[in-house]
Amino acid sequence: MDFVIGLDISTTAAKALVLDRSGAVRATGSSEYPCDTPHPLWSEQDPGQWWTGAGAAINAALADAGIEGSDVAAVGLAGQMHGLVLLGEGGRILRPAILWNDQRTEAECDEIRDIVGKERLIAVTGNNALTGFTAPKLLWVKRHEPEVWAQARNVLLPKDYVRYRLTGDFAIDCADGSGTLLFELARRDWSIEIVGELGIDPAWLPKVHEGPDVTGVVTPEAAEATGLLAGTPVVAGGGDQAAAAVGTGAVSPGILSVSLGTSGVVFATTEGALIEPDGRLHAFCHAVPERWHAMGVMLSAAGSLRWYHDTLASELDYSDLVDEAAAIAPGSDGLLFLPYLTGERTPHPDPLARGAFVGLTINHTRGHMTRSVMEGVAFGLRDSLALMDEVGLARSNEVRVTGGGSRSALWRQILADVMATTVVTTSTSEGVAQGSAMLASVGAGWFPTVEDVCDRFIETGEALDPSSAAETYAEAYQSYRELYPALAPTFHAGTTKD
Ligand code: XUL
Repeated sequence: MDFVIGLDISTTAAKALVLDRSGAVRATGSSEYPCDTPHPLWSEQDPGQWWTGAGAAINAALADAGIEGSDVAAVGLAGQMHGLVLLGEGGRILRPAILWNDQRTEAECDEIRDIVGKERLIAVTGNNALTGFTAPKLLWVKRHEPEVWAQARNVLLPKDYVRYRLTGDFAIDCADGSGTLLFELARRDWSIEIVGELGIDPAWLPKVHEGPDVTGVVTPEAAEATGLLAGTPVVAGGGDQAAAAVGTGAVSPGILSVSLGTSGVVFATTEGALIEPDGRLHAFCHAVPERWHAMGVMLSAAGSLRWYHDTLASELDYSDLVDEAAAIAPGSDGLLFLPYLTGERTPHPDPLARGAFVGLTINHTRGHMTRSVMEGVAFGLRDSLALMDEVGLARSNEVRVTGGGSRSALWRQILADVMATTVVTTSTSEGVAQGSAMLASVGAGWFPTVEDVCDRFIETGEALDPSSAAETYAEAYQSYRELYPALAPTFHAGTTKD
């Protein structure tokens, strides 16, 4: 059996990736599904779509690779974090899953801080209560849908619902577990105390495993649906960010990775549970055993550029749009962009934060606006890096960049200049699915540790050093930092709420 499969149950599609023993991506398959917004601030998906999508993606990847299920040594799972799947008797789906980008739970976050105490919550779980996390979603269902709550028997995260359909087991990995706000971060297991204080039945929670551990095997029914062989081992895997870090080799302290996807992430591996005392950075378990990570998440990174393109310049290709931006001097002649189009998490955990162009003059062109969007996103990522420096996180002078936005050399150079650090690409194309396939390769016994597979499979590519523009950006960043505190009262006044 010379292949492993990595699955990514993302917000937009189920993706399957086939990796061979040399680390080469032999095939991919994907199946898209919609995301529902039945009310402002809500974001939901039907878990059944993930299972159907996973089946289609695995079948497509096997066909594309020209291999059989019997050629697959193990399957790894990764996916969108924090989402709440509630199951009743016999695994029945009780309501649509409430996703990571759902913002309905502000009141429940306050409630959790009241019950547990903010300081204790951060000390135990590593994190403050944020609307995206799982625990406030549970309290929301308890308050608003008591008839659903009364039927609940199991709580799962998105990719673990797919695991349940694949293997029949209720299981989760430490990385996704730590994103629920119900985890004792240092002990890498459920905090039975906090779970009890929030009135959640501990029997509902899945069993916790380390990322490369085998949690179960494919059932005959799942084999039928996916093309896999019954009995194929399924490993725990990780939440998408931890899996993506495996996929880029960011598994040792000192190596930072930055993802420029819809959301933007600065990710740093730590030896122990490193907690920012105000909870402004996320502190989670890594998909690597005995490793943790710190993470800053901005909600609209490449998503900001996509919005800008679709709204104001849809007639242009991205490459033409970015060419216009490249012709503008660093700093966009004083134009600043705030990327809080869907609220923000790091460093301003504020669902009501909003986007803005500030400093427009009659001389600014579309190129200026495009460039300032790219710069604003880089400033937002720099905010996370600044918090990591504040807590004394050791790092090399290099970050590995991934995600759709990283294909732009201009954006990578802006990042290098704004972060004053060298920015390198990696050989990885689909970080999350590739990372989950690499975790599967360890579970299959191909490698003794996750570090070993990263050493063998990941190569770094082009490196961009900071240029003389770094000085201009250092000044512009100071102005950028002043904008959120100045504009927050306007955002909160209600006029910008919807
Ligand atoms: C991480 C996070 C997102 C989702 C979406 O904390 O919320 O990365 O996992 O993919």
